[in-house]
This record gives sequence, structure tokens and C-alpha cells, in this order.
Amino acid sequence: MRLMNCLIGLMCAAPLLSAAETAPVPVDSLKAAFGKRFAIGTAIPGTNLRDAEKTLLFKHFSTVTPENSLKPQPVHPEENRYEFGACDALMEMARSNGLTVNGHTLIWHSQCPNWFFTDNGKPAERELVLKRMREHIAGVAGHYAGKVASWDVVNEAIDDGREYLRKSKWLSSIGEDFIAEAFISARKADPKAELIYNDYGIEQGPKYEKALRLIRDLKKRNAPITGVGIQGHWILDRVPFKSIEEAIMAFHAEGLKISITELDIDVVPRKGFGADINTRENGTGDPYSDGLPPEVQKRLADQYAQLFALFLNHSDKMSRVTLWGLHDGRSWLNGFPRRRTNHPLLFDRQSKPKPALSAIMKLAQETKD
Ligand code: XIL
Repeated sequence: MRLMNCLIGLMCAAPLLSAAETAPVPVDSLKAAFGKRFAIGTAIPGTNLRDAEKTLLFKHFSTVTPENSLKPQPVHPEENRYEFGACDALMEMARSNGLTVNGHTLIWHSQCPNWFFTDNGKPAERELVLKRMREHIAGVAGHYAGKVASWDVVNEAIDDGREYLRKSKWLSSIGEDFIAEAFISARKADPKAELIYNDYGIEQGPKYEKALRLIRDLKKRNAPITGVGIQGHWILDRVPFKSIEEAIMAFHAEGLKISITELDIDVVPRKGFGADINTRENGTGDPYSDGLPPEVQKRLADQYAQLFALFLNHSDKMSRVTLWGLHDGRSWLNGFPRRRTNHPLLFDRQSKPKPALSAIMKLAQETKD
């Protein structure tokens, strides 16, 4: 009886740990291999996942990004209507399984409803659009304050062509300071989250120069940026390793943490590059609809290993590496820039590990500290 009372006493005094917090991290998992050096993440469409997908998610990843549900269109379709249901459920699934969440994205030119920019059928004045932008950020980042590790505050604001900033309704309605204003609003709404500028292609060429200019410009305006997100939508045999490394060092030298926020390696040849979701390509070829030939699979594995070797070398500068999708069947690259069967991730359509996964796990073992 005494023993019984003692046990009950002990149980009541013990802090309440969730199953996720007490569960051991599987040794053959990505998060066991990399988690001490940077968070390792994936993007998911929602809570409606198959069992094999949930197993994969909870085993391998330490952090998750909602693929669409926090973008302006789905979360704030009308001025006086927020739709938090889908993302609240995703957050709860993440929390109860020990995963942190990254918010993607507060301000973006795509997947953004037109009501922000119109006033009685006419283009709205700067002050009105600015007010709406601030309210949007206060509404969304405020709703999730203390619950997200980071926010992609502004997504893809740099121009792909000759201009400094991309032509967008945010830019034409508010002016260049919309980016700084967005960061200031995000910090007010969430005092702790990492605040990220996120974009594709900023690791090289003119976009890299413009990204540095933007970071410096934001700092001059006292905008509280803390991180850069290099999306990482790369293409097989064209991964710019050297530029990626130099960009990580240069952005870090500006006082920022680096995240790779949307990693995938497109394996199906295509004409263009970049990740502007509004750029479509025509063409009908679907060379890998029956699977990826072993020789291409090997090149993919080698290039993933080379990338992760680079991330490990600079892990002191890195906050996170997130893959854009759980497995090949869930990748947006099956539909962008045209419909084709793609194989850009670490797991195949059956949620089974690919040679690329083994290659980076081996690397993590070899460089274990
Ligand atoms: C993509 C999603 O994966 C798709 O489901 C959606 O249809 C379009 O957007 N850069 C980004 C992401 O910042 O938000 C995009 O995600 C991929 C490119």
C-alpha cells in the first residue's frame, strides 16, 4: 500500500510530458542525423495524410511548413473573413507530435486575393492598402503568435529581370517600403518568431546582388529581419553549389540565419528555371512516368549528398533545411511548370526511402560530431 501511495505520489508530481516528448527519436531518421545541427523539415498540404505518410512525417522530420493554408488567399479570402480551421488542425497535429511549425507566407504576389488592392471597383490608395496589409499581418501572425518558429514575412519580392523589385500590386500600391512595413508589423504581432525574407534564385547572379541590397535596405529602415530563406528549387545537373555556399556566407555576414525553405531537385528536363508559379511551359514529354532510371537516381543521390555536405559545413549559420513535400507523389513539380511525373525528393511515391536518403544519412554518419 505504501509503495502504491508512493508511486501515485511520484506520478502526480512528475511533469506532464506528451507521448511525442517522451518517444525516442529513431536512430535511422533524418532528425536524428541532422537535428542537432539544423532543424529538418517538410511541407504538408494538411492533416489528411495516409498512414504511411504520417509515419514518415513523424519519424523523420522535426519541423513542418503548411504548403498552402497560410497563404493570403486561403487564410484571408475576404476583408472580414479569416479561415484558420485548416491550419489550426495542422498546428495541433504538429504540436501533439513534437514538430515545430514555420509560417508560409504573410505577403506574396501569388495566391493573394484582389480585395487588398481595390476600393469600390477602383485601385485602392496607398494608405488603404498599407492599412489592410498591417491588419492582415496582425490578424494572421497574431493568431499564431508563440506557436510558430518562423514566418516567411515576404515571399519573392525581387524581380527576375532587370528591375530591382518584382512588379506586383503590393509594390505599385504601397511602394518599395511595403517590405520593411511588413517586417515591422510581423514583429509587433509575434515578438519571438524568426522573421524571414524568402525567395528563389537569390543565391546567384543579379538576384543575389539584389537580395544583398534588399537586406541592407531593410536594416537601414530598421526592419526586424532575422533570416533569409533560400527556397532551393534546384534542377539536376544545374545545382549552383559554389554560389549557394557563397550566398550562405554572405547573408550570414549580414547578421542573418539561413534556412533552405523549399528544397527539391527537379529531375525532368525543362526549358526554363526559377519557381514563379505563374510561369507555365508547354510540351508533352513525360520520360520518367515508369520510374527513374538507376543512373539518374544515382546522380540525384550524389547531388543531394553534395548539398547536405555543404549545409553541414555551414551548419553554424543555418537554422533549417525544409524539403518541399513529403515524397515524390506529393511534389508540386508534378504539375509545375507543366504536368509530368517527377522524382525530386528523398522518398518515392510509396513513401519509401530513395538512394538519395541513404546517401545523406551516410554522410551524416561520417561527419558525426
Ligand atoms: C506551391 C504549392 O506547393 C502548390 O501546392 C501550389 O499549387 C502553388 O504553390 N514557391 C513558394 C511556394 O513559395 O509557396 C510554392 O508552393 C512553390 C514555389
